[in-house]
Amino acid sequence: MTAPLLEVEDLQIELITHAGVVRAVDGVSFSVGRGETVTLIGESGSGKSTTAMGVLRLLPEGLAVLSGSVRFEGVDVVADPAAVVPLRGRVAALIPQDPMTALSPVHTIGAQLGDALRLRHGKLSRAELRRRGVALLEQVHIRQPETRWDAYPHQLSGGMLQRVLIATALAAEPALLVADEPTSALDVTVQADILDLLLDLQERTGIGILMITHDLGVARLVSDRIHVMRAGRFVESGEVEQIIDSPSDPYTRELLAAVPRLGALEVTS
Ligand SMILES: Nc1ncnc2c1ncn2[C@@H]1O[C@H](COP(=O)(O)OP(=O)(O)O)[C@@H](O)[C@H]1O
Ligand SMILES: [Mg+2]
Repeated sequence: MTAPLLEVEDLQIELITHAGVVRAVDGVSFSVGRGETVTLIGESGSGKSTTAMGVLRLLPEGLAVLSGSVRFEGVDVVADPAAVVPLRGRVAALIPQDPMTALSPVHTIGAQLGDALRLRHGKLSRAELRRRGVALLEQVHIRQPETRWDAYPHQLSGGMLQRVLIATALAAEPALLVADEPTSALDVTVQADILDLLLDLQERTGIGILMITHDLGVARLVSDRIHVMRAGRFVESGEVEQIIDSPSDPYTRELLAAVPRLGALEVTS
């Protein structure tokens, strides 16, 4: 049997802040397999981003203390933090939360996507770089990709920028995408398009997705499994239908009650 893409066991993360030590993640366990979408849902401050950043070892060394295990295709990056470096991008890539600030304003889309391609493929001729980059922009359904290649971020809408960031993540051909609230900064209609795109990519490539969201509408649309997070712990875990249709934890019921968009997404799709 092959190891799951990502297997997290009893992960604990303590953040050392000027106000003291915060245990932001308090013993969570989950796994993501090929072609699966697993969602961490919870309100702001519940520890979702800390979990995602901890898993990718993107928290500041020395200010974040991890215990437990995080295995990418069997390689434990808690036991050996340096082991994550060659895995980042190639095995797991991050789609950040805010597309408006994630790209450099002074470089073209092509330059930034080109950097991501070079990281993965080494030296490529400019023509080859552009050919592959434009193909990636097409893959994330950006119209006129040739023109967009030469554009600057401020010339693109938020939804389009998020597509560029997804393309940038895909440049490394990762097996797992970690998406931290990838649509929270976008309008509801654009949000649905981006989620459709992710599901479409998953269908075509079998990529695994670790989705982070505070929105049960999003979680219901994309997830195979859901973990409901509160104060650093999972209060409830299960298949999507089970969590949405018959939540057993009062906190999950509160989340369900608080999400008017749950119905709205269904009507617009
Ligand atoms: N840089 C930081 N300094 C102090 N506390 C932090 C920092 N980052 C996160 N925290 C704390 O860790 C907890 C989890 O935060 P976070 O993972 O960002 O939650 P979420 O992504 O679910 O909104 C919160 O209590 C938050 O206040
Ligand atoms: Mg967050």
